[in-house]
Amino acid sequence: MRTLLIAASILTTVLALRNGLAITPQMGWNTWNSFGCAISEDIVLSSAELIVKWGFKDLGYEYVIIDDCWSAGRNSTGHLQANSTKFPNGIADVASKVHAMGLKLGIYSDAGNFTCGGYEGSLGHEEIDAQTWASWGVDYLKYDNCNNDGQMGTAQATASRYKVMQRALNATGRPILYSMCNWGDDAVWVWGSTVANSWRMAGDVFDMFDRPDPRCPCDEYTYLTCTESGFYCSVMNVVNKVAQIISKGGPGNWNDMDMLQIGNGGMQDSEYKIQMSVWAAAKSPMIMGNDLRKMDANTLSILQNTAVLSVSQDVKGSGAERSWRYFVPDQDKYGQGEIALWVGGLNGPGQYGDQLVLFTNTGTQDRRMNASLATIFFDSGPEGSAPQIKESWEVYDLWANRMDNATANAIINGNGTVPSDARWNATANGGYAGLPSSTEKALMGTKVGTIQPGGTLWADVKGRDVGMFRLRQVGAGKKKRDEL
Ligand code: GAL
Repeated sequence: MRTLLIAASILTTVLALRNGLAITPQMGWNTWNSFGCAISEDIVLSSAELIVKWGFKDLGYEYVIIDDCWSAGRNSTGHLQANSTKFPNGIADVASKVHAMGLKLGIYSDAGNFTCGGYEGSLGHEEIDAQTWASWGVDYLKYDNCNNDGQMGTAQATASRYKVMQRALNATGRPILYSMCNWGDDAVWVWGSTVANSWRMAGDVFDMFDRPDPRCPCDEYTYLTCTESGFYCSVMNVVNKVAQIISKGGPGNWNDMDMLQIGNGGMQDSEYKIQMSVWAAAKSPMIMGNDLRKMDANTLSILQNTAVLSVSQDVKGSGAERSWRYFVPDQDKYGQGEIALWVGGLNGPGQYGDQLVLFTNTGTQDRRMNASLATIFFDSGPEGSAPQIKESWEVYDLWANRMDNATANAIINGNGTVPSDARWNATANGGYAGLPSSTEKALMGTKVGTIQPGGTLWADVKGRDVGMFRLRQVGAGKKKRDEL
């Protein structure tokens, strides 16, 4: 039975793939959130250097993505060219330097006449542009949706426009990760997996936690039919939208909740922890958007929590589902406050694999939260019939082993050693694919207890914070050996 299930899941994976990329959600860094149009070769290359120097590359953050405003239009032969003030040596030169650092380069364009920033778009120029990027050594395309000549409004109109670029990228023969950015319009989550490796599923996330804004007019209740995705969306606005479409993502094809705002200063530490945790649990791409040159210890230790990244990069590629959500009376100044439980399957040594349990508390008060095994494993059998409920589960807290500030500062200042259990070197160890052993704190966090058969997980979760746990079946390794 198990073999059959594995075979079925491999088959689904293979069928869903078009270019073999983004088997797990892509990780990297993008210029837009902190630099907007004020980008340059120097910013891109110096950020790439910091990605290597501070160990982000080792953790899997590999794509360095140049967003809008890099171009100077077309030359006399119709080829896109880079702005020579911002990129005096051209994009091919940047690509070769980024490659020499062991990283990959991403670029941006738009499935319209002009980009959102008003630069030359690629609509009608897909082949020549794809060939140009391939010839420069580009590894990733973020493809936006502004100024699209009205070729939108139905899934077919939008999908066929984006498919032209899919074919053009494939025709180059160069593996180029295809990241669609049409903000969730025209129900992209329904058809996105046949076109691209990822698709933005909502408007732009601004550096704010739950403040409503009229420029992000689609709320969670109108989401599935809303036509103006907008921007200035809060983290919680996007979280409550993705909860409705989690199952659309999978290996090779991901719901993109937009870039991380961690470190950009608009939210408090625990709110950034919530962004990191839900983005990882929901299997969104993990693209940093902060000015790396202004890195501080708190930002580094969130972005470098490899116990959380191992959830994002888990080989099952199965996004966690939001099991329940309740509004709470302790609301903030925007009238917002809720608690939620997210659960999902992870790779693990036991018969049933490991299980993720994520509590979010966006109320202002600390509270004890709980989830019974029956709730945690609801999808394996409703109303208490799941076989997992009869097992005992070790509980690992994925934030309890967060790197301390002294270690983080030592990394930033380049004057200390990083304890081996502080983070996992994914690059040296073939990613996060191996089964983490329960002694690997960098992947498992800290063991905090055991749930008995039929029991309940209790967690003290601070106001505006998360409790993020990995459950592992007691005796899982032993059972496996017995079976052999
Ligand atoms: C938006 C997009 C942003 C950024 C911007 C550039 O449409 O969602 O992530 O790329 O355009 O102008």
